[in-house]
Amino acid sequence: MAKNPNPKLPNEHTLYVGKSGTGKSQALKQNSAAPGRGVRCLLWDESHDHDKGTTYYDDKNKFINAVKRGVNSGRGFRIGWDGDSSPESFEWWAAVVWAVLDGKKPTYVVIEELAQAVETVGRAAPNLRKLFNQGRKYGARIHAVTQRPQEIPKTVYDQCGRFWIGGQKGPNIKKFAELLDVPLDEVRQLMPLQFWYLDETSGQQAEKHQLKYKN
Ligand SMILES: Nc1ncnc2c1ncn2[C@@H]1O[C@H](COP(=O)(O)OP(=O)(O)OP(=O)(O)O)[C@@H](O)[C@H]1O
Ligand SMILES: [Mg+2]
Repeated sequence: MAKNPNPKLPNEHTLYVGKSGTGKSQALKQNSAAPGRGVRCLLWDESHDHDKGTTYYDDKNKFINAVKRGVNSGRGFRIGWDGDSSPESFEWWAAVVWAVLDGKKPTYVVIEELAQAVETVGRAAPNLRKLFNQGRKYGARIHAVTQRPQEIPKTVYDQCGRFWIGGQKGPNIKKFAELLDVPLDEVRQLMPLQFWYLDETSGQQAEKHQLKYKN
């Protein structure tokens, strides 16, 4: 069970959106708010987009045992799930993440291709909902990635305060131009590895970033 709630902890939940190849995984990898090592990190990462330093499991018992070992070590760990990616398994995985949260130690939570693992655009399924709604107080810092922002739960938009917005198509252009408060063309014309970053909690305007590809 999640333990040691601390309401003063920051909301660092971050959403990365953009078509395939726009550089979302790069944006996450290069984000200093999501350290690649030395921290407790659990990943839902079927395609191994974040394989550096990550040990993957596709067996639920083995995954749970590795997570227990990581937690008991008292040190950082990077443990990824690359097994079944059904919404049922995603709910299982979210429950495992919830179980290790500790308000005294941040836990970084990386979710690759969120739309693939959820079935609703309204309220998130119960375990994912709990992670997004209550995880902050227990040290969760969720970094969720999706190609299809129209297919993810509203709960995620409600709880994420930080957004990396890459190239979009169709109605998503308008939706994110409004969120960012920039002209439509500023979203429509984004090239791969170009992102708008918005931190709603900072009160600052969105800023444009040009990333360089890194291995
Ligand atoms: N070796 C490389 N040198 C320079 N740019 C590269 C290299 N390999 C890939 N890229 C660029 O990086 C981008 C892909 O980045 P990334 O994998 O982060 O995309 P993504 O948005 O996560 O895609 P997906 O949704 O399919 O996972 C593409 O624009 C690609 O052209
Ligand atoms: Mg990717």
